[in-house]
Amino acid sequence: MPRPESESADAPATFNPRMHQGGKLSFRGRQHDGAEDPGPLLVRGGRNPPPLDELWPRELPRCEIEIGSGKGAFLLAATAVKPDVFLLGIEAAEAYAQVAAAKLHGQGRRNGLLLVDNGKLYLQDRVDPGSLDAVHVYFPDPWPKRRHQGRRFFTDEVPAVLAQALRPGGHLYFASDNAAYCGQVARVMGSAPQFVRDPAEEQRVLALGPGHAFSPTNFERKYLEQGRTIRRYAFARLPA
Ligand SMILES: C[S@@+](CC[C@H](N)C(=O)[O-])C[C@H]1O[C@@H](n2cnc3c(N)ncnc32)[C@H](O)[C@@H]1O
Repeated sequence: MPRPESESADAPATFNPRMHQGGKLSFRGRQHDGAEDPGPLLVRGGRNPPPLDELWPRELPRCEIEIGSGKGAFLLAATAVKPDVFLLGIEAAEAYAQVAAAKLHGQGRRNGLLLVDNGKLYLQDRVDPGSLDAVHVYFPDPWPKRRHQGRRFFTDEVPAVLAQALRPGGHLYFASDNAAYCGQVARVMGSAPQFVRDPAEEQRVLALGPGHAFSPTNFERKYLEQGRTIRRYAFARLPA
């Protein structure tokens, strides 16, 4: 697959242009401390992350990706309730990815993996079209300052990126406490011709319980304790 133009051969070894492309995402300094053992369940994407095909164990018929999986609460629950699904967590901060991978490893999960990378770039150039049953994005960083809003995951180009990666009938699941960001997601995804909001699916997965979609996450727990309102949306990928 093509490498981004910004990946120059002489870039310093510590600089990851995939993660820091255009200087929009800055996760330098969030290094792991080696305290947790991720076993084989942590993949550092580096300059040339492996395509999904190389990570996905083919005895598992379906694949879902969580972007910004943090410390892995959702992945831990999802790998338990969906044993026939390969769940790939993509987390830009290596320290969090390591904590999440160590949790999965500690519980003996065989259907989950953590990749350190920028999830949007990964969907763009490492996932074959129509590969995914679902993409989960929970409590993405809201970047509240106007000058930082381009760093958000749900920018205007994201529906096309998601539409390419999801199979027809697959879903994007989103949750947040940030009303302004929820409004942006409703506008961006709701106006995309490839997607339709799917309230029946929202009710269905909530009724199924933790690990199917939306819940649990560490930020969800924190914000529920604070009494904040949480909005949860599912958008279905329409047939091409
Ligand atoms: C506010 S935290 C939410 C973590 C988790 N989803 C939860 O609900 O507890 C957002 C996470 O997304 C990660 N992140 C932000 N942008 C990302 C990107 N483009 N690709 C992958 N991870 C990203 C951050 O490092 C952080 O861990």
